[in-house]
Amino acid sequence: MRLRDALLSSARFRALATRFPPTRPIARRRARALFDLCAGFVYSQVLLALVQLRIPEILRDSPLTAAQLARRLDLPESSAERLLLASVSLRLLSSRSRGRFGLGPLGAALIDNPGVTGMITHHPLLYDDLRDPVALLREAGTRGKSASSLAAYWPYAAGGAAPSQPAQTQAYTALMSASQPMIAAEVLAAYPVRRHRRLLDVGGGGGAFVVAALSRARSLHGTVFDLPTVVAHAKARFDQAGLSSRADVVGGDFVHDSLPGGADLISLVRVLHDHDDDVALSLLRRIRDALPPHGTLLLAEPMAGTAGAAPAGEAYFGFYLLAMGSGRPRRPERIMEMLRQTGFSRIRLARTRTPLLARLLVARP
Ligand SMILES: C[S@@+](CC[C@H](N)C(=O)[O-])C[C@H]1O[C@@H](n2cnc3c(N)ncnc32)[C@H](O)[C@@H]1O
Repeated sequence: MRLRDALLSSARFRALATRFPPTRPIARRRARALFDLCAGFVYSQVLLALVQLRIPEILRDSPLTAAQLARRLDLPESSAERLLLASVSLRLLSSRSRGRFGLGPLGAALIDNPGVTGMITHHPLLYDDLRDPVALLREAGTRGKSASSLAAYWPYAAGGAAPSQPAQTQAYTALMSASQPMIAAEVLAAYPVRRHRRLLDVGGGGGAFVVAALSRARSLHGTVFDLPTVVAHAKARFDQAGLSSRADVVGGDFVHDSLPGGADLISLVRVLHDHDDDVALSLLRRIRDALPPHGTLLLAEPMAGTAGAAPAGEAYFGFYLLAMGSGRPRRPERIMEMLRQTGFSRIRLARTRTPLLARLLVARP
């Protein structure tokens, strides 16, 4: 390691590696990887412009030239061309015959994908907060957390009183509900919920996970526990889906209130990582208290140290949650330790199809 570090940090060695044919491909790959790290923000902004202008939807039906698209979007033609070419280089779009542009593999995946497009369009808040990452790192835990844009977006994370106005929880509930179906698909494929009678989804947001679970298990009853202004959305969703006889809501604050009893299955989906250890441990204890001895906890979220997706956990969520004002991505081993500490003894990691999106721990008392 020492020798490798010494060699790679020598400008002379790097120049040699580029000149020497056997090491040239490695040197090129490394230069490209480093350049991509430098340029990542620019790539994200190309993506944002594409999504804000709804270009994937426009090109879905018929490829267009830069001039045609420029007229349609009221953009200078040179700007339309610049954005289209940038998007082709990022595989969001592809070049077609007669100077036209159509969808590329990554742009096609944005169609009918509100979970991902919602995430992209709320990212300006995150990038605002990350403008000075060193200041953010220095101020963590000491600054007035509500100063950040993301802390205002996720007001429960900023400490102090839980949000009580619908306007404070509406945007994040819509964002979470949009991406929840893809998370639910991961969790429910990895763990069959049919064997259970009553599901309590803690921090269940707009109820999308409960709706997905109930559609897989006809005799399951579901309850969402979340802040009172949030469960109003879940209630409306259940009514709309014709599920009012099988699904209900309980409004409360899991930092201060105990959880409703009676469920033999509790789910905690994308909740634990939002909270620092003290709140996370107390929440796990409340869940343990609410479960019967034969009950099960499903804990699903993106986790740190995921093979093939390490930057998504450690870098993306690490800095996202730093900007938000609380929480951290945790490795499965760390969450298992916290589960044991709070009274769970039979714990296993279940395999999900797309660990980047969510990993799943199944725990029993
Ligand atoms: C990141 S969202 C996840 C929502 C949902 N589980 C999903 O995956 O789509 C976290 C949820 O926890 C809820 N929450 C945060 N703090 C809470 C508290 N103190 N009491 C009850 N719910 C809380 C939020 O309102 C929000 O709906």
